[in-house]
Amino acid sequence: MRSHLLNDTTTERYRASVTEGVERVAARIATTSRPFTGVTADTLSPRVEAVDLDTPLHDTVAALDELDELYLRDAVYFHHPRYLAHLNCPVVIPAVLGEAVLSAVNSSLDTWDQSAGGTLIERRLIDWTTGRAGLGPAADGVFTSGGTQSNLQALLLAREEAKSDSTARLRVLVSEAGHFSVQKAARTLGLGPDAVVVIPTDRNKRMGTVALARELARLDEQGLVPMAVVATAGTTDFGSIDPLPQIADLCARYGTWLHVDAAYGGGLLASRTRRHLLDGIERADSVTVDYHKSFFQPVSSSALLVRDAATLRHATYHAEYLNPRRAAQERVPNQVDKSLQTTRRFDALKLWMTLRVMGADAVGDLFDEACALAAKGFDLIAADPRFAVVAQPQLSTLVFRYIPEAICDPTATDRANLYARKALFASGDAVVAGTKVGERQFLKFTLLNPETSADDIAAVLDLIAGHAEQYLGENLDRAC
Ligand SMILES: Cc1ncc(COP(=O)(O)O)c(C=O)c1O
Repeated sequence: MRSHLLNDTTTERYRASVTEGVERVAARIATTSRPFTGVTADTLSPRVEAVDLDTPLHDTVAALDELDELYLRDAVYFHHPRYLAHLNCPVVIPAVLGEAVLSAVNSSLDTWDQSAGGTLIERRLIDWTTGRAGLGPAADGVFTSGGTQSNLQALLLAREEAKSDSTARLRVLVSEAGHFSVQKAARTLGLGPDAVVVIPTDRNKRMGTVALARELARLDEQGLVPMAVVATAGTTDFGSIDPLPQIADLCARYGTWLHVDAAYGGGLLASRTRRHLLDGIERADSVTVDYHKSFFQPVSSSALLVRDAATLRHATYHAEYLNPRRAAQERVPNQVDKSLQTTRRFDALKLWMTLRVMGADAVGDLFDEACALAAKGFDLIAADPRFAVVAQPQLSTLVFRYIPEAICDPTATDRANLYARKALFASGDAVVAGTKVGERQFLKFTLLNPETSADDIAAVLDLIAGHAEQYLGENLDRAC
């Protein structure tokens, strides 16, 4: 069985196995005509359950055949132009190559003695990103597993920097369109149940700065401590970018930590035409960037950036067995000193390969194409009497809903939209997301694939309308 260990004696097996796996994926990708087969959990589950994990196949080809049946055939494919649901991007090939290399070498980026050049590559990419964000010469950061973890670490640093003797008095302000990881982080950090103050948005779904100013003044009057404002640069539903300069002014006035959650909008750092939308990001104390959203990287790849490297000390602990204090004194570059994780993937390699093969402009152009497509999609939906669309996109999402011609009961419209989304998913013809605006049920396109065309959007709208009409036709008595 040692022949399965990857070492100098098994490189032929390694080559053959990985090549065989690559062939299977390539074959699936070449022939997938829909983003999903529509398989149900009830159908798939018994097949997965039937596999006896204690009886190996002892054969890579057979295991890949089995995997093809259980996973590859019915996977949800983000590369497909009609996958329009969540913040998942198609991936660029240099990054996939990076992924293959990093898992085979299997560096762990916690300490220099487990990674060597990997650490230096990660550091260069952090500097590259902080440079693009304009965070200044003292900036630093670290790769993380995703936006949720980057936001958690940002708020940990903010909590430690807040000059307060009581966590019960700490408050985090975020817009109503902000990501739920802010609430999760507050809970994880042991803040009180009222710790997150939700600020209403304007009609373009951007944080209302008058409301923010009012809340900051109220907290001040009540002796509460605004430990952080989380501005979102690309909200999950609307792609709206909070007014960063005005928010930065308010944070400066109250001495509040400004965290910019640019998990989604961070891709604009590489844009040649839309970078200005992030103006003000350079005033942040910390920034979340998810390369696995708008830099076309495979999951996972994210970073937390900070304006002042010294603030990362709040994540530092020394252990004799890993990163003794003397190593820091000797300036050994141990990334674990900056991270909440210990063993950590070399995700940075994917971005490195992407920048070295394609270059930043090419990545930014891909995201720009998705944003331009969203603008076209907005015009299409706005001109279509069957639909109502909520807001003009700053990035690449469209929140809209099917509106029947004559309907008495708005909940029937909600049900028709819910039904249309489910029916579409079950058909596998397209995958779209759903969300609520106020009390009403809406649908969402998240456009991250430059291969998606305006024709795809028009065709998916027709499919949605068809399913919704069918539902209403079959349930007319409940609609009126
Ligand atoms: C604005 C925003 N922040 C944070 C996150 C969390 O990122 P992740 O899913 O990588 O943890 C998301 C995910 O969609 C997001 O849209």
